[in-house]
Amino acid sequence: MSVIRPKPPEDPIHYDAAATIAAGTVSRAGLEALTPRLDAARAESLADLDRWRAGGTRPDEVLDPAFIDLPDRLLADYARERTTSELFAILQTARRIREAVDRVIVLGIGGSYMGTRALFEACCHPFHNELPRGERGGRPRLSFEGFNMDNDSAQGLLDLVAPAGKPRSDDLLDRWAVLVVSKSGGTLETAVATRLCLQKLADAVGHDQKRLAQVVVPVTGKSGRLADLARAIGCPDVFDIPDGVGGRFSVFTAVGLLPAAIVGIDVVRLLEGAAAMNRRFREAPVATNPVLQFVGVGHLAEEQGATIRVLSSWSNRLEAVGLWYDQLLSESLGKAEKGATPLTAVTTRDLHSRGQQHQEGRRDKLITNLVVGEPRRDRLTLPQLGPYGANQDKLDDLVGTTWPEMLAAAVGGTNEAYAQAKRPTADLVLPRVDEHTVGQLLQMLMLATVVEGRLVGTNPYGQPGVEAYKQNMMRRLRP
Ligand code: PA5
Repeated sequence: MSVIRPKPPEDPIHYDAAATIAAGTVSRAGLEALTPRLDAARAESLADLDRWRAGGTRPDEVLDPAFIDLPDRLLADYARERTTSELFAILQTARRIREAVDRVIVLGIGGSYMGTRALFEACCHPFHNELPRGERGGRPRLSFEGFNMDNDSAQGLLDLVAPAGKPRSDDLLDRWAVLVVSKSGGTLETAVATRLCLQKLADAVGHDQKRLAQVVVPVTGKSGRLADLARAIGCPDVFDIPDGVGGRFSVFTAVGLLPAAIVGIDVVRLLEGAAAMNRRFREAPVATNPVLQFVGVGHLAEEQGATIRVLSSWSNRLEAVGLWYDQLLSESLGKAEKGATPLTAVTTRDLHSRGQQHQEGRRDKLITNLVVGEPRRDRLTLPQLGPYGANQDKLDDLVGTTWPEMLAAAVGGTNEAYAQAKRPTADLVLPRVDEHTVGQLLQMLMLATVVEGRLVGTNPYGQPGVEAYKQNMMRRLRP
């Protein structure tokens, strides 16, 4: 057997807005005229990083650009220092947790869990949690809590990990762990879920504090309530969310990488994909730069009234990427009564719920198709009906047609319908859904968000508006 493994593909993702131009929403001349401003916004976004590193953050300014070169730095440290690198520590803990438990619950909200969910859904088996451990390659199931205070859904999760009346069991298949993710360390939703899980975990380990500490992995800022709690419990592994990386930009810190590695996602390839996007962003001229073209088209379309940006995923796997991006764009640019409204759709599913509106409703939408070139699994083909009938479903002429062929017809047919109605669409094409392309995509969307912020004069970092609900909620809880 050969020990030489084939090099996995590293094809670039691709952005194409020709249909938006053909629809007349955006013109080539308009895009060309925007070139100097896009160039300047790129330069300002990169200069933010230098300014932050040099300690040049202005008083009262939130500046979190350290996500930009984070993938490159993590990979370089891993290559250079290996056993003392952050990535090595993440992989070591991932292995320890993987071998110790059969379910991991990520406790977090907003940027502290949405990126993980995006990675999990995009890169793992679509029914990972339903598979027996052996078919999961010995990797734990992954669940999420701490993103709401929904009594019944929390109870439902407890039914799985701590069923009432079930005697304590040390069977591997009954063991579970929590990753508590909160940069501030003080978010109420996550903190109350943490208490609940700690109580149940303590029962599960027979109130042995050393064992408890081993199944609680906090990922948090250098200081704060969660960091204090981690010290009190004595957690052997605590991961830092570095300064200069905001919550919704933290997917390539331990926030996303640790749970991803636990469930078997190749985090090195994810980071390599992100680093490849960084190179294109820095080096490619505006006209061929996917980040800058994406920003330019979105901006010009918004000026023409397309204030709703529909990210229309043609893969079920990428829905959670869309929801992550909804949060990224909303929290970053929804400020000072400005900012487009992002909306995730999964097609063809949502053509049967939103399609009517997109085709004939208000002309306020730019639809970006998230299209996948090839499936990961063998192609399904339409079978014969068999002995059960005689073409009552009138599909005999399609026998042998593959699922990807049918989906391609749906993509083409939908775009044709939008083009006839002069509805602007663009394509963001992933050659396939794997770690490398997902790494590229997430980094592209994060870069695009900060560049657009600089283009329109909105600070993309921080989310001051979210404080109002928190303060009101706490005042009601502690009158
Ligand atoms: O992008 C952000 O900063 C937010 O969405 C946060 O991630 C979210 O509010 C959770 O905050 P924390 O990680 O401090 O609990």
